[in-house]
Amino acid sequence: MPSDRHQPVIVAIDQGTTSSRAIVFSAELEVMAVAQREFTQHFPASGWVEHDPEEIWTSVVETTRQALAKAGVTAADVAGIGITNQRETVVVWDRATGEPVHRAIVWQDRRTSAACARLRAEGHEALVQARSGLIIDPYFSGTKLAWILDTVPGARERAERGDLAFGTIDSFLLWRLTGGRVHATDATNAARTMLFDIHRGTWDEDLCRLLRVPAALLPAVMDCAAPFGSTDPALFGGAIAIGGMAGDQQAATVGQACFAPGMMKSTYGTGCFALLNTGGEAVASRNKLLTTIAYQLKGQRTYALEGSIFVAGAAVQWLRDGLGIVKMAGETGALAAASDPNQEVILVPAFVGLGAPYWDADCRGAIFGLTRGTGPKEMARAALESVCFQTADLLGAMKADWPGAGSSGTVLRVDGGMVASDWTMQRLADLLDAPVDRPKVLETTALGAAYLAGLARGVCPEPAEFARSWALERRFTPAMEAATREDKLARWKDAVARTLTRR
Ligand code: G3P
Repeated sequence: MPSDRHQPVIVAIDQGTTSSRAIVFSAELEVMAVAQREFTQHFPASGWVEHDPEEIWTSVVETTRQALAKAGVTAADVAGIGITNQRETVVVWDRATGEPVHRAIVWQDRRTSAACARLRAEGHEALVQARSGLIIDPYFSGTKLAWILDTVPGARERAERGDLAFGTIDSFLLWRLTGGRVHATDATNAARTMLFDIHRGTWDEDLCRLLRVPAALLPAVMDCAAPFGSTDPALFGGAIAIGGMAGDQQAATVGQACFAPGMMKSTYGTGCFALLNTGGEAVASRNKLLTTIAYQLKGQRTYALEGSIFVAGAAVQWLRDGLGIVKMAGETGALAAASDPNQEVILVPAFVGLGAPYWDADCRGAIFGLTRGTGPKEMARAALESVCFQTADLLGAMKADWPGAGSSGTVLRVDGGMVASDWTMQRLADLLDAPVDRPKVLETTALGAAYLAGLARGVCPEPAEFARSWALERRFTPAMEAATREDKLARWKDAVARTLTRR
């Protein structure tokens, strides 16, 4: 039944690390309906993390159908779909059957740590950084893809014959949504593979050779707002155009309207990812940040410096599920606020090693400063502060890399589940010694994806006008004494130094 709505809507598919979400937005980019489904995390060995691509696929189709139903709209009402996704996670599938040849290897997976150490020892770091903007680390797709080709019987031969396709989750979903007609990705997702030249905007032959990845596996690379194809009509009761695509952190950068050089956002989900817009300049980091593509529109690439932290919300999940200190994640801030200020408990949440700016895949978490009086409140504070300390490390590295980030009054726009805690955001502003802005719309990742789709489909305005609709909910202004802040940061640095395996 066609609906009688006249206003088109936009659907964002946000395929994250622990859940898939579908959000229906009005043409004015207001949230109309949300559907969410968690899916299974597989941990087949220490440091390994896998997802079942079929379960991801089912969760995406079902949440999209649910969100459309909740919003009371049909496929005919949808101007476009925007896809945003957990980045770097690798899927390899058979082009003829669409079947994955292995479970998806997730960005958090460390199984290629030895392979990365070998590449570093062979002296390939400079080439990888110069072309891809990345550091040699298991985090990125390239070595994971090589692992699948080397491990799944016959996969390498099939890949060389052109029978297999590689994609990050966006690309896999696009293939499935279009009924196997389109094998493409966008520049932001390609930039996370360690196979892509972010300056030329093409797959890089030298990097592909280094990682032994046949070109026949790779998807076409498009802008973030582009005609990606349309959905198989059987899926949602009619074909829907797919117009937007970006990795989730880049989509959040767009959703936060960080369009001008010097603007910065930080998203607190499972991990924390801070992106600083550096405009048309791909700034090479001297402080172990990543250079990445923030977005690509009309063939123009805008670059960012990125700091990636692997454990943020995951530290709070650990308090809840591992230690049982809180029943709900939302209780943590109040618990921390009631902690004893004289106890300096420091948690280094290196559960899967440390990301930027340390890049130590092999170190593991540690707690310092425990006393007989340490209890749940101090542990809660240590977990929340660890996220703030890590963000301070990133901001410090950004300022050192790019003077544009160091101008006085640096403002960080924040989003993600953890930012609901006022205590955490105040502590973040205090430890950064910089204002922290929390926007009214916290669904920034989905908003960014929806905006990109709306832009491609002609229902959303150009970036400058979209940026004017960004609205502040609350600014947190630093209030901590300098001496206290410096003392805390010094304790954190010391704790990290004692945790690292590579010093
Ligand atoms: O790089 C990994 C990142 O894209 C995952 O984000 O929100 O699923 O934890 P999230």
